[in-house]
Amino acid sequence: MAGHVAVVGATGAVGQEFLRVLEQRNFPFEKITFLASARSAGKPVTFKGKTHTVAELREDSFKGVDLALFSAGGSISRKFAPIAAAAGCVVVDNSSAFRMDTAVPLVVPEVNPGDVKSHKGIIANPNCSTIIMVVPVWPLHDVNPIERIVVSTYQAASGAGYQAMVELREQARDFLDGKKVTPKVLPHPIAFNLFSHNSKVGENGYNEEEMKMVKETRKMFHCDSIQVTATCVRVPVLRAHSESINMTFCRPIGEKQVREILASAPGVRIVDDRENNYFPMPLESTDGDDVFVGRIRQDISQPDGRGIDMFVSGDQLRKGAALNAVQIAEIL
Ligand code: A2P
Repeated sequence: MAGHVAVVGATGAVGQEFLRVLEQRNFPFEKITFLASARSAGKPVTFKGKTHTVAELREDSFKGVDLALFSAGGSISRKFAPIAAAAGCVVVDNSSAFRMDTAVPLVVPEVNPGDVKSHKGIIANPNCSTIIMVVPVWPLHDVNPIERIVVSTYQAASGAGYQAMVELREQARDFLDGKKVTPKVLPHPIAFNLFSHNSKVGENGYNEEEMKMVKETRKMFHCDSIQVTATCVRVPVLRAHSESINMTFCRPIGEKQVREILASAPGVRIVDDRENNYFPMPLESTDGDDVFVGRIRQDISQPDGRGIDMFVSGDQLRKGAALNAVQIAEIL
């Protein structure tokens, strides 16, 4: 029993999903508090059929709170997660603020559940694209270590927050009505378009999202030698990320063995019907808990039999964020 649970960023896209996941999984607690900015204080939120009121996040919000699920952005986490931890609360933080901090465990329960034990008050929830990649990749790596991953993402608007989802809907309507489309939250038109991920591009030419996939995979796999190169792209999809993943293993591996491993891997659903050209799709992985995996095939460009290609799709707000955080809390 978690006692008193607080949801920080309760009015946001991930915050709202926290509420659905806590309700659906019947997460045990005695009391729950919903926190957001002063703008939302006093607004109603519905949870388990009851109406609650959002309170303003403040430094004294964590007195008596046992578990806090944070998803209100990096700067809020940087300021308030240490305050919450000092008040005796365990924080599961969905922002990138502490992910690469060596004192903070970074956890996907299907990959490295044991790392939760080492927490000192804060546990980081990984980046959504990283989570969706590592759920099917880890069980393969565990059997036959992976030397190199080449991943390309097709990322939904939800990753940029609730307002980005509103923007996609509004732009689609405006575009079809022949009206001028003016981006507000995202940097470019998202309806009927796609663009390189909207995070900052660094000196090496990789954007922040791509570098998260590189670094977070190494940290969770406890494997500094795994090479990852990523290209992250925002596409006009509401809330499920898809990824093309190419892997080079240490030893030869056949697609039959990959299918066998993935068939019993937790959190994975194989959707791989070549005859009907039916593979993972964001509309179908939306609202579900599993990462869909298909297009599993031997990479013909690696004649030594060490290459495998696959295509995956998973709900960004659930496994990519809220569900993973609640699963961490369940381990606690
Ligand atoms: P609010 O709705 O009051 O702005 P999203 O990523 O979907 O945009 O959601 C961000 C979440 O973080 C929202 O719940 C938002 O609350 C919350 N948030 C943003 N700024 C603050 C702040 N200064 N203090 C507390 N919560 C904040």
